[in-house]
Amino acid sequence: MIIDSIKEIDTTNLYQGYTYSYPHKSAYRAIEKTSLATIWAKEQMKRLFFYVHIPFCEMRCGFCNLFTMANPKEGVRHYIEALKREMDTYKGLFPEARFTNFAIGGGTPTFLEIDEFQLLLEYISAMGVDMATYYGSIETSPKTLTKEKIVLIENAGITRVSMGIQSWIETETKSLGRPQSISKAETIVSQLASSAIPEFNLDLIYGAKDQDKKSFLYSIEKTLAYQPTEVFLYPLYVRQLTGLGKKNRDTEDHRHELYLLGRDILLTAGYEQMSMRCFRKKNSPISTITDAYNSLTDGMIGIGAGARSYTKELHYSTDYAVDRKVIKNIISNYSHTDDFNTISYGIALNDWEQKTRFVIKSVTDGGKLSHQLYQTLFGTDVFQEFEILQVLLDKEWLEKEQENYTLSLKGMCYEDIIGPALYSDDVKSLMKNYIWR
Ligand SMILES: C[S@@+](CC[C@H](N)C(=O)[O-])C[C@H]1O[C@@H](n2cnc3c(N)ncnc32)[C@H](O)[C@@H]1O
Ligand code: SF4
Repeated sequence: MIIDSIKEIDTTNLYQGYTYSYPHKSAYRAIEKTSLATIWAKEQMKRLFFYVHIPFCEMRCGFCNLFTMANPKEGVRHYIEALKREMDTYKGLFPEARFTNFAIGGGTPTFLEIDEFQLLLEYISAMGVDMATYYGSIETSPKTLTKEKIVLIENAGITRVSMGIQSWIETETKSLGRPQSISKAETIVSQLASSAIPEFNLDLIYGAKDQDKKSFLYSIEKTLAYQPTEVFLYPLYVRQLTGLGKKNRDTEDHRHELYLLGRDILLTAGYEQMSMRCFRKKNSPISTITDAYNSLTDGMIGIGAGARSYTKELHYSTDYAVDRKVIKNIISNYSHTDDFNTISYGIALNDWEQKTRFVIKSVTDGGKLSHQLYQTLFGTDVFQEFEILQVLLDKEWLEKEQENYTLSLKGMCYEDIIGPALYSDDVKSLMKNYIWR
């Protein structure tokens, strides 16, 4: 059956959406209460991703709509204890679970005080996540990372630290709604670069008000001076309910021009483009563990308020919000729960949604599309079912590299069109009708 009949792709707006997961959380809804034991019954538990969400930050940046709250006055310790209860629930239900990749995200995990941070790492270890053996990453920000926390990360054996810089120019971070001390950022990035942590990445944003080619070039060159393993270049999205969104400020659209400039500098500086946003230093060893998690086929257990979990047929999480009061409520409910055995919010993935997810994840965000793996998993031909793939090949946005198809350098420019063009009609409609709060 040929379901997708897209013949042309609209390129008038290059920034239609960042597809870092599919379906997007705005497609989740209340669902019938179901036990974790039922949800996970058909899954293999030997190669899972472990994710834990810390929904706290030192400030709410003007561009950010993640599930997080700035400077909670109380309740952080209760939240961490609730994480432990949720982890214990999974451990009790699935003692055979093995995690072969992990992320500690947020928010900003290093917002935690040193003793809370240490406790969190202990709880993750007690869950059976072998942070020193398997590839994993932790998010941080310049203001919340300290020498002591770097030492804890080193001792835990975590492979990668991911830090948002956004810009090395104070007026730009201010205009992004993220005032940041440049000298504090310089000190902590130097400490990170000279630490024993094998990999770190720095994020930059392009499209800030008053940012121009010269100032973006300055931020990139300064970033390169620290030789990060990866540099992420994010186009600015002004989203609903965020500080910038409330001001109703449109981005001046010179993003594509800045993107091309940034991309070319990074390519010349010895970085390889992995996706529209990610540039990785050439010859940086990539983890070669053979039993590594594969995001196309394996599940993810997400712990914490706002964390997502994925099985083949169901994606779920707690309720989601952007508004501070609603987030506070969700976190408080989470922190006072004793029963983590059931879930009641998420989205079921029918056969078509599973295929769509496979294709989106294979084509965007640094993925590789395997014709053969699709055939093996679904018993059908991916090029027959997703006509759009032929359009991408004809445009030379997709290219064949041995047995797999990947986005070409040209195609990566259009990643934020390609992802949304692949969303199913059902998911598009759910996302459109989502009431943001
Ligand atoms: C999880 S966040 C950052 C981690 C950490 N909390 C920090 O702020 O340093 C990941 C990155 O996504 C990017 N980002 C988030 N929202 C964005 C938006 N609306 N537009 C562009 N980039 C965005 C930022 O570069 C940010 O550093
Ligand atoms: S960008 Fe980072 S520090 Fe800022 S609000 Fe979002 S998660 Fe928190």
